[in-house]
Amino acid sequence: MSATLSIEQLRADFSEIFHAEADHTFFSPGRINLIGEHTDYNGGHVFPAAISLGTYGAARKRDDQILRFYSGNFADKGIIEVPLENLHFEPEHNWTNYPKGVLHFLQEAGHQIDRGMDVYVFGNIPNGSGLSSSASLELLIGVMAETLFNLQLERLDLVKIGKQTENEFIGVNSGIMDQFAIGMGADQRAIYLDTNSLDYDLVPLDLQENVVVIMNTNKRRELADSKYNERRAECEKAVEELNRKLSIATLGELDEWSFDEYSYLIEDANRLKRARHAVLENQRTLQAQAALQAGDLEKFGRLMNASHVSLEHDYEVTGLELDTLVHAAWEQAGVLGARMTGAGFGGCAIALVRKDALEAFKENVDKAYQEAVGYAPSFYIAEIAGGSRVLD
Ligand code: GLA
Repeated sequence: MSATLSIEQLRADFSEIFHAEADHTFFSPGRINLIGEHTDYNGGHVFPAAISLGTYGAARKRDDQILRFYSGNFADKGIIEVPLENLHFEPEHNWTNYPKGVLHFLQEAGHQIDRGMDVYVFGNIPNGSGLSSSASLELLIGVMAETLFNLQLERLDLVKIGKQTENEFIGVNSGIMDQFAIGMGADQRAIYLDTNSLDYDLVPLDLQENVVVIMNTNKRRELADSKYNERRAECEKAVEELNRKLSIATLGELDEWSFDEYSYLIEDANRLKRARHAVLENQRTLQAQAALQAGDLEKFGRLMNASHVSLEHDYEVTGLELDTLVHAAWEQAGVLGARMTGAGFGGCAIALVRKDALEAFKENVDKAYQEAVGYAPSFYIAEIAGGSRVLD
């Protein structure tokens, strides 16, 4: 795992690249999702948390109208220069399309960004791991612009602009979970969010003698975007079919009984499975939240397991790597629960593991995974941290 960056190092890196002092430094976290997967674009609940892995940034306002971007993760790309009046998606502009999108939508919302910036970023979220490096970057740039240009913004505005960037600039029809978790995260708190109303609670994450282990398949999330959009379309079609008798905007409005009663309206077997996942996963998230509040971590763990089963068989977004990790985790002593986290199709899973069982857990899961998949997974302990912020 890449090390954390001190503010001094961040400033030094910035000066070396841009030959000037940064005005401010920033940090924006990544996220895990405890439970409530593929529910956020279905009007359901999610239960994510911001983590201490994330994206660091340093920035300086310029006197002209030129944006200059440099990423320590893509040093081979060098400084990418973009005129402020040309904030359009361009494939060859690579990772800077995320910042460009955020700045574009800030301007479109009437915020004055009239000068260029020098922007340095460095992230220690493993690439393609599904811990939301893109939302982390979006919120980082949002907070940069807010600070450097003194913009009058609510945090929720930045969260929505991050999502808009993902949806309308990058072309992934994602929900609001990632940007919300990253923008609104708080130390040692999980975020229980109703994605329909955007009402939320910051829930103390008292894990007792356990930790959340992030297990990285080290398989990049291939085809994730097209499959993701496909799942979303399947759920929307199922809503249409259900609305021959019902009047719902999203699957999140149904509980298991009302779904059961009307599921005969869904004409395709795959769509029925997708919709069933969306409905039941939302109900599981309600139950998981209550279990956590009541200190019943065993029940919380069982709900995590049920979530994975549903994502594996009904939503079909797991695959060999995630299933191998999670199934191996289920068999270990001291494991309360395990499931994939994020969009799926590779990326990461999480497990709730007793601290004193941790070493044996890692060793055994690593072995099982290597045997089945042929290369090693990685393990990190999730430290639950605050949301996107100015460092100095
Ligand atoms: C990705 C998306 C989120 C959410 C998850 C699945 O992370 O960006 O909006 O849909 O997948 O829960």
